[in-house]
Amino acid sequence: MRLILPLPGAEALASEIAAGLSAELGAVETRRFPDGESYVRLPMEVAGREVIIVCTLARPDEQFLRLAFAARAARELGATRLTLVAPYLAYMRQDKRFQPGEALTSRHFADLISREFDALITVDPHLHRHKALSEIYPIPATALRAAPLLADWIRLNVERPLIIGPDIESEQWVSQVAERAAAPHLVLSKQRHGDRDVEIAIPDLDAWRDRQPVLIDDIVSSGRTMIETAEGLVAEGLAKPVCVAVHALFADDAYQRLSDLARSVVSTNTVSHPSNGISVAALLVEALR
Ligand code: R5P
Repeated sequence: MRLILPLPGAEALASEIAAGLSAELGAVETRRFPDGESYVRLPMEVAGREVIIVCTLARPDEQFLRLAFAARAARELGATRLTLVAPYLAYMRQDKRFQPGEALTSRHFADLISREFDALITVDPHLHRHKALSEIYPIPATALRAAPLLADWIRLNVERPLIIGPDIESEQWVSQVAERAAAPHLVLSKQRHGDRDVEIAIPDLDAWRDRQPVLIDDIVSSGRTMIETAEGLVAEGLAKPVCVAVHALFADDAYQRLSDLARSVVSTNTVSHPSNGISVAALLVEALR
């Protein structure tokens, strides 16, 4: 029987996955030593078993070492195959050297993960200049799409939606969500001047005043993209938007600030967060089958 091992923060999702696969749900014991180093122990038998480690990588600098230690321990103790389910895959955005001398972290991180695991399954990795995970991951890497789940949530929960993507990069999946939700869509144009400095150009929206705007994005990190867009839509006379995100990273007070501007904020559970309202468990179970 396959063994599912969650790293801290992925327990609930791992339990849904184990139930869906009729697999055994195990545990990884972790703690921090006073000096900040990690203690990692696999308390159950892994020898001769296929092990699936579930670890969301929302805080990758905190998570990665214990993830690598858990994988190494499983391998040394005889696991036959190691799959990483990382519902949120970190370090996908630095896909180019924008300044001379920068580390190309999407590639370096892919290399580190691929040394430890035989396969990777993730949800909506931020693919921009890398068109596919296979460009940087030498191991089999599956990118699942949350768009149908977002569309189904919108169909059930929002009347007369107008789906809005904040930037041209979002066009491909915003249009998929809109099609499945049987709603019109718009894609805005964004300029990022810095980590927390984003400018969104809002077009004339007069024709859409009777619609409920639904802002969708793959990642909310600093929240600036959604916050600027929400402010711009309301300034143009549209209703407060429903904000839907796949990966709810929400740094600092971003969630509070966005909640103050939005009609509601909902995310998938690729990252455990109070806004979670859409589960990707069934998607992951299907892929693992
Ligand atoms: C960028 O291309 C992504 O699709 C998101 O729009 C971006 O990561 C959101 O970041 P933030 O919340 O920091 O504006």
